[in-house]
Amino acid sequence: MTDTPSTTAPKKLFIKTYGCQMNVYDSERMAEALGAKGYVTTEVAEEADMVLLNTCHIREKAAEKVYSDLGRLRPLKAANPDLKIGVAGCVAQAEGEEILRRMPLVDLVVGPQSYHRLPEMVEAKGRVIDTDFPEEDKFDHLPERKALRGPTAFLTVQEGCDKFCAFCVVPYTRGAEVSRPASRLLAEARDLVSRGVREITLLGQNVNGYHGEGPSDLGGGTWGLGRLIRELAAIDGVERLRYTTSHPNDMDDDLIAAHAEVPQLMPYLHLPVQSGSDRILKAMNRKHTAEQYLRLIERIRAARPDILLTSDFIVAFPGETDADFEDTMNLIRAVGYGAAFSFKYSARPGTPAAEKPELPAEVADARLHTLQALILEQQRAAQAAMVGREVGVLYEKAGRLPGQMVGKSDHLHAVHVYDPTGKVGELVRVRIAASAPNSLGGERIRA
Ligand code: SAH
Ligand code: SF4
Ligand code: F3S
Repeated sequence: MTDTPSTTAPKKLFIKTYGCQMNVYDSERMAEALGAKGYVTTEVAEEADMVLLNTCHIREKAAEKVYSDLGRLRPLKAANPDLKIGVAGCVAQAEGEEILRRMPLVDLVVGPQSYHRLPEMVEAKGRVIDTDFPEEDKFDHLPERKALRGPTAFLTVQEGCDKFCAFCVVPYTRGAEVSRPASRLLAEARDLVSRGVREITLLGQNVNGYHGEGPSDLGGGTWGLGRLIRELAAIDGVERLRYTTSHPNDMDDDLIAAHAEVPQLMPYLHLPVQSGSDRILKAMNRKHTAEQYLRLIERIRAARPDILLTSDFIVAFPGETDADFEDTMNLIRAVGYGAAFSFKYSARPGTPAAEKPELPAEVADARLHTLQALILEQQRAAQAAMVGREVGVLYEKAGRLPGQMVGKSDHLHAVHVYDPTGKVGELVRVRIAASAPNSLGGERIRA
């Protein structure tokens, strides 16, 4: 007897991801969770049986985009009344009830801490919402990850934030800081490696605040991020490690030392400072001064002289004067960044800064423009400084030109290499020969 093929076609799932890398990780896990219910992912919203928007609440624009994108799904829902539409992520957490009220086409709303319940939610009759911060750990209830992977992967080690910067919604949307036990992370890393991964980026809203339970066979206790990185680096096959996003106040000595001592830890660090003005840093509740940040950078550079630093900046925070802004420009000049994200301040409901009067839009626009010009200059200089140097490159995909491979350098620059026999997943040595606006070009060095 032969097996009769199943007559039920798999259901198709389209996920759109907004916001930070943690959402990227969560989207993967949600796809896997729904995979257990017979869903396969599609890149085409029009052919989907379910559309899931994994949303971001960090700035007003990001949050409003969700409503306009939902509006754009109306014709799809009209054409296919069985289409399920779900909203996940931080807007779901912050505005779940409002989404249901404003958007009748939405069938389900699920917050970032309860998406392990998605498989039951999709089978529920009627509209459902779950924005709990449940007792159980969602990671214990998600299916095992099975598929083969590309050479890079994210691994969430910590979630939530207790820092309460005056402008930020994350402590409200993601809840309190929770670190996953190290034994789980070591197991997940071993599993990723067995499925082809060579580079792991550890994720957390406050990743260097990691303080997870150490496995009892490795002495127990509480591990900081430095210890976790050392133990991950000891796993055969973990060839590159990165972590993001860090808070300056959680860069402890052991983590800084790891940058000097762990070869797998890449010479790249995203360390947001937001502002260079002590007055504004205080109003932002960042709990450090510009000078303390600069001293910290010195210590990190002493540990790893070739480290490439990046940051986030907010311009036109309430009360920011021209002099405050100039302090930020001076801090940028003093550090010399490889790149940075910069944003105009956006008042977020429920945050303390939202109570204060905002600056005129023209002031914010002008400051953003000025700051971005300086960052771009520094980015170009940092890239130009790579020319002539030899770096590691992990191939992630074929390039657009015949025979070309594209990967990331140790310093996270995109690098194009002409290498007709190159394969995705190879970690090669490359001499950088040229710098283009957003990438580098180089030649593979064969031993
Ligand atoms: N945990 C990270 C940042 C998370 S949010 C950290 O502490 O640095 C990512 C970036 O968005 C922030 O670094 C900040 O620059 C920006 N951001 C957050 N809230 C914002 C707001 N209300 N307006 C404008 N930018 C904001
Ligand atoms: Fe937001 Fe500040 Fe927490 Fe970063 S440290 S997530 S900016 S509250
Ligand atoms: Fe956005 Fe939530 Fe990440 S608000 S930046 S998706 S933690």
